[in-house]
Amino acid sequence: MRGCDDKLKLLMQSFLTPRSFPTLLCIAMSFAFRSSLRLAAIRSQFLPSIIPLQRPFSFSPIRTMSVPTNMKAVVVEQTGGPEVLQYKTSWPVPTPQEGQLLVRNNISGVNYIDTYFRTGLYASPKPEILGREGAGTVVALGPNTSGFKVGDRVAWLGTSGYAEYTAAPAAKAVKIPEGVSDEDVMASFLSGLTVLSLAKETYAVQKGDWVLVHAAAGGAGFLMTQVLKNIGAKVIGTAGGPEKCALVKSLGADVVIDYRSEEGKDWVKLVKEATGGRGVDVVYDSVGKDTWEGSLEAVKRKGTIVWFGNASGPVPPISLPTLSPKCVKIARPTLFGYIETREEFEYYTNELFSLLQSGQLKVKIHKVYPLEDIIQVHKDLEGRKTTGKPLLKP
Ligand SMILES: NC(=O)c1ccc[n+]([C@@H]2O[C@H](COP(=O)([O-])OP(=O)(O)OC[C@H]3O[C@@H](n4cnc5c(N)ncnc54)[C@H](OP(=O)(O)O)[C@@H]3O)[C@@H](O)[C@H]2O)c1
Repeated sequence: MRGCDDKLKLLMQSFLTPRSFPTLLCIAMSFAFRSSLRLAAIRSQFLPSIIPLQRPFSFSPIRTMSVPTNMKAVVVEQTGGPEVLQYKTSWPVPTPQEGQLLVRNNISGVNYIDTYFRTGLYASPKPEILGREGAGTVVALGPNTSGFKVGDRVAWLGTSGYAEYTAAPAAKAVKIPEGVSDEDVMASFLSGLTVLSLAKETYAVQKGDWVLVHAAAGGAGFLMTQVLKNIGAKVIGTAGGPEKCALVKSLGADVVIDYRSEEGKDWVKLVKEATGGRGVDVVYDSVGKDTWEGSLEAVKRKGTIVWFGNASGPVPPISLPTLSPKCVKIARPTLFGYIETREEFEYYTNELFSLLQSGQLKVKIHKVYPLEDIIQVHKDLEGRKTTGKPLLKP
């Protein structure tokens, strides 16, 4: 042991000469520098949003996960029936631009509005990937995009949801809270935000109001009925067929009318009877062409009609004096007009998430379809075969 100690002393003495100090200092600094680098790399992987990384050790937080070049997507090159929906297995993955997130979609929503862009009722540039919403994981950020990081679980509104990856606007994306599934969010995101804004802003529904909701078993109608009942309104729901009517009844609707049945064809008379001849305070009409005249009759004097969709076709131009006899107000709102600013968007998304978390809003998923079955989804939706919300698994 003693011999060992002597050798160590000799070694130290030969190293610790005045001439060797600069070399030793360099070695020590290099070791410290490398350790810092390693630490920064670990921090940038696990804690990029918690600890802001500083130069020179931070470099930049990870801004991308490994992303393939091509993906599966549904593309529309020209307007038409469901057959124009083309399932592609090798479509380029988009590159996120400034203000965009690249999201790997776990699930996407299918909305009636998608059929309008497919048919050309609403204009949009082609070729186009349809789909207005998705939920999944952020895999990359475009330049100068803040507020999110790779790995965040988000829901987004935008375009091109019928695909494995979407370059979604960060301004219309939101982190999904713990305890809320991607599927529950997609069953209620675009539809739920619409319903909440329509019931609060287009017409501020009050406890005790009589409200007529058309297509009450559909994606938006299913949520609308619940939101109205939560406010304390008296709801008259219309739906096509006994199964759909039973579903609407189970949500607590006060009166349910099967407007495709023999008796229900005269739904205006039934609405008048239910309201003691007075008519309803407000109609939420997303069916359009087939119901608009009846809705005008069913609304009370000084009542409001909210036309917010065209499931049966658009409402034809109305002559304004038609509204005079009963002093009726009409509105033609769109969700995006109510969530233009980040503050407005967060207001409604927070409200939606808290309703989902508290169980005050139940969702109904009609079915989760694989992406390649997209033609069938549109056929089912336009064929009035769905209840609640159809979803797509990219
Ligand atoms: N303005 C906005 O910002 C906004 C946002 C979201 C949704 N919307 C509108 O809200 C409506 C509902 O959208 P959604 O995605 O939830 O669809 P949905 O209600 O699930 O499906 C449409 C429903 O409309 C009914 N309908 C009545 N006549 C029809 C016809 N001739 N052809 C097809 N369906 C008919 C059907 O229910 P029955 O069988 O029970 O009649 C059908 O299930 C759509 O009009 C949509 O454009 C508007």
